[in-house]
Amino acid sequence: MRSFIVGLDPGEGSRLARLSSAIGFPIGVLPSLEVLGAELTRPGAGRALVLLADPSLTREASRLAAAHGEAAFVVVLADTIHPDDYKALVRTGAGEWVQWGSCDVELPEVVRRFATPIHGGTGGSIVTFAPSKGGVGNTSLVAEVGVLLSGQKAAGGLAAARIAVLDLNFQGGTLADTLAIEPRFDLAEIAGRPERLDEQLTEVFSSRYADKLDVFAPPPRPVMLDDIAPNLIFTFLDTIGPRYDLVLVDLPSPALGWTETLIDGSDAVVVTGIATVPGLRRLCDRLSQLDGLSGPARCLAVVNQAETDLMGRFVRRAEVDRLLGGRDNILVRRDCASMEMAANAGQPLMETAPDGRLGRDIRRVAKWIEAVAARPARLAKESAA
Ligand SMILES: Nc1ncnc2c1ncn2[C@@H]1O[C@H](COP(=O)(O)OP(=O)(O)OP(=O)(O)O)[C@@H](O)[C@H]1O
Ligand SMILES: [Mg+2]
Repeated sequence: MRSFIVGLDPGEGSRLARLSSAIGFPIGVLPSLEVLGAELTRPGAGRALVLLADPSLTREASRLAAAHGEAAFVVVLADTIHPDDYKALVRTGAGEWVQWGSCDVELPEVVRRFATPIHGGTGGSIVTFAPSKGGVGNTSLVAEVGVLLSGQKAAGGLAAARIAVLDLNFQGGTLADTLAIEPRFDLAEIAGRPERLDEQLTEVFSSRYADKLDVFAPPPRPVMLDDIAPNLIFTFLDTIGPRYDLVLVDLPSPALGWTETLIDGSDAVVVTGIATVPGLRRLCDRLSQLDGLSGPARCLAVVNQAETDLMGRFVRRAEVDRLLGGRDNILVRRDCASMEMAANAGQPLMETAPDGRLGRDIRRVAKWIEAVAARPARLAKESAA
């Protein structure tokens, strides 16, 4: 996401730029509203956060928010604002007032609201897979669900859906290997220049797995995490959002500055973990952390690699129920032989053994996502009718 300041003396400017960078939105200073207008109307440039920091521009704020509400959120930074100006600004639904004295606390809060939902209601659903620790099978589950939902015939709410799977493990992502595609998502190439992101470039970044499934997977070369600014990721999601009915995101396990904002802006989050005692503890901890966020609306806990008995029943079912009782949760069995067979064939399990027991467990995760993702699409259709 891009962000701009208009009208500021250099001292306040550097304070605001520092604050904005700390929450992941490096800022550009623009000399006038005319230049800003040109930036906001540039085709395909994505949404922008606008900070108006000159008292003489306060009156302009509501006009700006009303005119560019689709593409921008306007924040007036001022110690006071006339009540009429404030009402007009808030009524646009695309603006807010923040006082200098409290901007360290309030600005991050406003930015988080602005980033929710990331796709501004214009695209499909974003479902983020968040691992509670490393190696739990997050990437495998994202890949299998993507293949499953993109391949199914006119069944449920997502019939004929266009799906994107997005690997945000910039240091050592394995999605490309799992789906045996050539990774092309080289976001570091445009580090610091989110304005270069347009339809054409996102096309170059994508690898087609199947007719309805595009994969964005980073190439296996060392990337400095500082090169991947959060606004680059959010701008990218904004750009691809309208092209897909569903975007599945594979998050890395270390918490980075932008991961909570991304989860908050998603339509649903799938928190993945494993069924060992420490694994379940980590899963519960991660779920409690997410309870503190304002969104997303729906959350599913997936306990992967769960042990089963000879009859195929989950050995720790009762313990999982006790720990996760009241939360949506699905257990997915451990089946190393099937996973290995798929890996050696260079294919996802949904191609090699879709009807096995592990395949059926994963199908339940896909069904949950399908129900969540179908909802916004259906609502959009109803309101358009
Ligand atoms: N249900 C399962 N049964 C058996 N093996 C599994 C299962 N799910 C995943 N695996 C295996 O576990 C390993 C780790 O899976 P994966 O790479 O998907 O995890 P991850 O959470 O994405 O890891 P990372 O933290 O490295 O990104 C892989 O070898 C995968 O084949
Ligand atoms: Mg992974």
